[in-house]
Amino acid sequence: MYTSLEIETRDRVATVWMNRPDTHNAFDETLIRELTAAFESIAKDPAVRVMVLAGRGKSFSAGADLNWMKRAAQASAEDNRREARTLSKMFDTLHRLPKPTIARVHGAALGGGVGLTAACDIAVASTRASFATTEVRLGIIPAVIGPYVVAAIGRRAAQRYFLTAERFDAAEAHRLGLVNLVCEEPALDATIAGLVEALLAGGPNAQAAAKDLIDHVAARPIDDAVREDTAQRIAVVRATPEAKEGIGAFLEKRKPRWDG
Ligand code: COA
Repeated sequence: MYTSLEIETRDRVATVWMNRPDTHNAFDETLIRELTAAFESIAKDPAVRVMVLAGRGKSFSAGADLNWMKRAAQASAEDNRREARTLSKMFDTLHRLPKPTIARVHGAALGGGVGLTAACDIAVASTRASFATTEVRLGIIPAVIGPYVVAAIGRRAAQRYFLTAERFDAAEAHRLGLVNLVCEEPALDATIAGLVEALLAGGPNAQAAAKDLIDHVAARPIDDAVREDTAQRIAVVRATPEAKEGIGAFLEKRKPRWDG
């Protein structure tokens, strides 16, 4: 079904492998379409609790395929915009996936590769990973990825790296908050397995609601409307069967049984 992706599902974890190693997993229209379809299907699959996004070959992702970019630029204004929207939809589908997502960054993450890293909930990088928002050196801008990257690294760091397009290493990505954990490349899967274990101990509906909560409160002033919204959210969530099970299990000194 997929030509540029491989999906492995094991123990409630779906690993989506971008599989265009010859172009360092640069995403063209096919990979964009397939990633969007994979994210949509994982969002709906009750057998999957966690998604890992990874790349085959030397790099995690070389970002947008520059041949695709060139084709889009030469198309009619309407087709050009339509292609840009498909990319935006791919990032939005990843960002909104109602399950925890982990980026497994083992090599270069450039342009949209930084975007994919930022759009996942958690990112783990190998010490060999390297990053750059290279766009301005190509005469373009990190537009579609901008909201995710700026949310991850903040405005000040974005001002430096969007403008200089300098390469930075995993330690700097960690310092910036773009990646959460850094380890040697052979330890990547074990590090991710530790995160997965922690994620599987949480309630699936609660995790979806927590993601939605973060989106709602991030970068907003703590005003009466936000306070009322958060009060409503906890009032709704704590009355759900999942919360009944989670709180009940704690009080009964047993492990919770999640449906997912
Ligand atoms: N789009 C299209 N093709 C790409 C690509 C991209 N984003 N990134 C790499 N490729 C292709 C190269 O054109 C080359 O194709 P060829 O074999 O037909 O010549 C092939 O992948 C291998 O790349 P190469 O540069 O020879 O390998 P490398 O190991 O020396 O460097 C990268 C790998 C990823 C560091 C380098 O290719 C690079 O900087 N790519 C551009 C990434 C970028 O700026 N992305 C942002 C886009 S907005």
